[in-house]
Amino acid sequence: MHNGLAPRDRAGASCEQRARAYCDWIEQALDGYLRDAGSASARLLSAMRYSVLGGGKRLRPLLVYMTGEALNVDPRHLDAPAAAIEFMHALSLVHDDLPAMDDDDLRRGRPATHRAFDEATAILAAGALQPLAFQVLATDPALAQYPDTQTRLISLLAEACGASGMSAGQALDMAAERQRLDADQIENMYRLKTGRLIRASVLMPAACPPPADAAQIGALERFADCIGLAFQISDDILDIEVETEDMGKRRGSDQFRHKATYPAMLGIQRARQRADELLDTGLTALQSLGGRAEGLCWLARCMVFHRRQW
Ligand code: IPE
Ligand code: IPE
Ligand code: MG
Ligand code: MG
Ligand code: MG
Repeated sequence: MHNGLAPRDRAGASCEQRARAYCDWIEQALDGYLRDAGSASARLLSAMRYSVLGGGKRLRPLLVYMTGEALNVDPRHLDAPAAAIEFMHALSLVHDDLPAMDDDDLRRGRPATHRAFDEATAILAAGALQPLAFQVLATDPALAQYPDTQTRLISLLAEACGASGMSAGQALDMAAERQRLDADQIENMYRLKTGRLIRASVLMPAACPPPADAAQIGALERFADCIGLAFQISDDILDIEVETEDMGKRRGSDQFRHKATYPAMLGIQRARQRADELLDTGLTALQSLGGRAEGLCWLARCMVFHRRQW
């Protein structure tokens, strides 16, 4: 499936270089999984490929690989979790942009899937990406000798995306349009709609062999909870401050939709302050993992400051 140099051969490289290698690697893996995803409807497959490939920062796969570094996990065990999470993320964006939700026509600098294809195809493509994510985990040859790990990974991903995870968060987000929420209500919504998938991105590698211990898992949970929240707050700030051309999605979309966002409810100053505070707390939580978590710390800063350095 892969042509490039395996990320595991890149010892001694900088965080930026490793991130680039992981991105190239996961890009090829995603392409390979999608190639095998079914050929009964060329249009459906084409919409699935369009929704996943050719854009996106790949932050969640990077979290998977960088957490793997921190825990000394064999990167071969991480391709399936990294791809499965990115499929889930891609489908969440397809849904998020639909007219029934945020009604955005631009994503990753090009037409959203429902604009490039049509609404029915976008809904079906998102629907097909979800089982693909689980299939990738269930059939990965590198994990085949660890059936308990596979079950745990499937369960972590299901929890993160279902009715007590991302879907619930998106439901709260839609219900909150034109409403006033307080800081706790906003943070609860963010924890679910964005935070849960980010949490799964660090807990899935922790479930791979060698299994992480309780202290490591606790530290990763505290880290991910902070970074997930901070990431969504800074996405909301981006929506206000950054030009459409630079962002690849429509500036001002939240305000147009009367979204209950952190900066809209509490002001941009307080939003920025809260994101900084969460980043600090998240990085502090990682200290117990030592120097091997360097890549994860670096990535967390990139995420919260929305700086792509690779
Ligand atoms: C956008 O996520 C949606 C949020 C949860 C804020 P990303 O900023 O990771 O989107 P891509 O994958 O890089 O396009
Ligand atoms: C999306 O939040 C969270 C998801 C689960 C997709 P947003 O609606 O703010 O994401 P963008 O700004 O459209 O990427
Ligand atoms: Mg949304
Ligand atoms: Mg949106
Ligand atoms: Mg946004």
